[in-house]
Amino acid sequence: MSSFPYNNVVVIGATSGIGLALAERMIENGVFVIGVGRRKDRLDEFVSKHGSDKCAASQFDITHLESIKSWVEGLLKQHPNVDAVMLNSGIQRTLDFTNPQGIDLSRVHQEITTNYTSYISLLTYFLPHLQARGPQSPAAVIAVTSGLAVVPMPRCGNYCATKSALHSLLWSVRAQLAADEHSQHVKVVEILPPAVQTELHSQQPDLVARGLGDIGITLEEFTDAAWAGLTRATTRSPSGRTARIWSRWRRGAGRLSRAW
Ligand SMILES: NC(=O)c1ccc[n+]([C@@H]2O[C@H](COP(=O)([O-])OP(=O)(O)OC[C@H]3O[C@@H](n4cnc5c(N)ncnc54)[C@H](OP(=O)(O)O)[C@@H]3O)[C@@H](O)[C@H]2O)c1
Repeated sequence: MSSFPYNNVVVIGATSGIGLALAERMIENGVFVIGVGRRKDRLDEFVSKHGSDKCAASQFDITHLESIKSWVEGLLKQHPNVDAVMLNSGIQRTLDFTNPQGIDLSRVHQEITTNYTSYISLLTYFLPHLQARGPQSPAAVIAVTSGLAVVPMPRCGNYCATKSALHSLLWSVRAQLAADEHSQHVKVVEILPPAVQTELHSQQPDLVARGLGDIGITLEEFTDAAWAGLTRATTRSPSGRTARIWSRWRRGAGRLSRAW
């Protein structure tokens, strides 16, 4: 049996890739998963594959910021035992400042809203429920950033910046909750994946055209490493190449953070 301490997990971005793979790994380990995403056909497939005794689904677009509060309230009414929320949804776009005229700012803002702004609302509306579970009940926010939060890749600078922003925010949220007696049972866990073979890349025409639509480690290899991190109760879980970059970066940043 796994030592994953949560029993009812909302996985946002459970229709493909990392979210779907980790949702299925949770189900294999006896966790009830509520999968979230925009693609209804994928959500239906997820529930019919695993059965409604093991999972449920909620179709929602997290960029609809004004609807997040009522969506979270409705979801928690239906699933009052939620003890962890995995914030995993994300998109990746290119951004090229050598050709500013070619920049579509609406796509840039959509990336910021999906990868960062929505997370602030999701944290705001999920945290009261997790805090209210009380000190005897472990609870968690598990968020997926990226190795690119630590070292950016110029091809997709805004994506990297959203992941850096989220990484920084999680650092502060973790410290705030840990210092508050009514919140310290809520862990803030960050998963920092390396490049993984998912639709994040295979759906980007420029990458596909350059033969890079399937870059990275396999989803299975990543899921094994991420699950090992999640069951070890670490607060940050880098894997693959990211683990090496993270451990070097951390030696310096750890010293710096003590200055605050
Ligand atoms: N693959 C990698 O190399 C890699 C590396 C580092 C970090 N990551 C991060 O890992 C996370 C998962 O990505 P992935 O690689 O598994 O890519 P993916 O297969 O494209 O999955 C992205 C997930 O996010 C969901 N999503 C996107 N926009 C959404 C929205 N507006 N509302 C609700 N759900 C939304 C998608 O669901 P719908 O389309 O159905 O809405 C999908 O389930 C992302 O945060 C990504 O940045 C990936």
